[in-house]
Amino acid sequence: MMKKNVLLEQAHALLVPLISKDDVVCDMTMGNGHDTLFLSTLAKVVYAFDIQQKALDNTSMKIEGLDHVHLILDSHEHVLNYVQDFKGAIFNLGYLPQGNPHITTMTDTTLKTLNLLVHHMKKGDFIQLVIYPGHDEGYKESQAIDAWILTLSPHVFQITTTHFLNETARPPYLYMIYKTKDES
Ligand SMILES: C[S@@+](CC[C@H](N)C(=O)[O-])C[C@H]1O[C@@H](n2cnc3c(N)ncnc32)[C@H](O)[C@@H]1O
Repeated sequence: MMKKNVLLEQAHALLVPLISKDDVVCDMTMGNGHDTLFLSTLAKVVYAFDIQQKALDNTSMKIEGLDHVHLILDSHEHVLNYVQDFKGAIFNLGYLPQGNPHITTMTDTTLKTLNLLVHHMKKGDFIQLVIYPGHDEGYKESQAIDAWILTLSPHVFQITTTHFLNETARPPYLYMIYKTKDES
């Protein structure tokens, strides 16, 4: 628990200088709404996605009265059906804490959305990924994302990572993907 909280605190801290009150951002995995609520304090508009009604129910309690936050019951691969112009997207992968561990982000869908985003992004846009290799699908997903990250051109993207270095289990970790150049 402690480990996860430190990483999530760092994940949030990385977002603060990137997001201003002029920006539209997307929370691709709404879950219990902690990240959605945090984004709502920084951004002009937040779109948050989840495939579970339970996530929308839990999050709507947290964001009551915030009409700049839109909760969408749909998979993040359909993000462009709802919003085209946004500065950043965050993914906190895995399953809903205290929810059904079988309803988790899936490797193929996550990669599909990431591929969509990297082509759609403009210079200055970003993606944040918090990855949980500690469960079976999460491990598969982490391996696929690690390989995919290496396919991104260093001339167009800068990518940083945050890891727990003294852990023997498979702790969560984080990637930040910054688009530093528009593709020609
Ligand atoms: C670790 S939780 C997210 C935690 C959340 N950000 C928070 O602050 O509480 C991961 C969430 O991703 C959701 N999810 C799984 N596949 C998804 C998909 N294709 N599109 C959107 N959400 C998805 C799950 O239902 C789950 O609620």
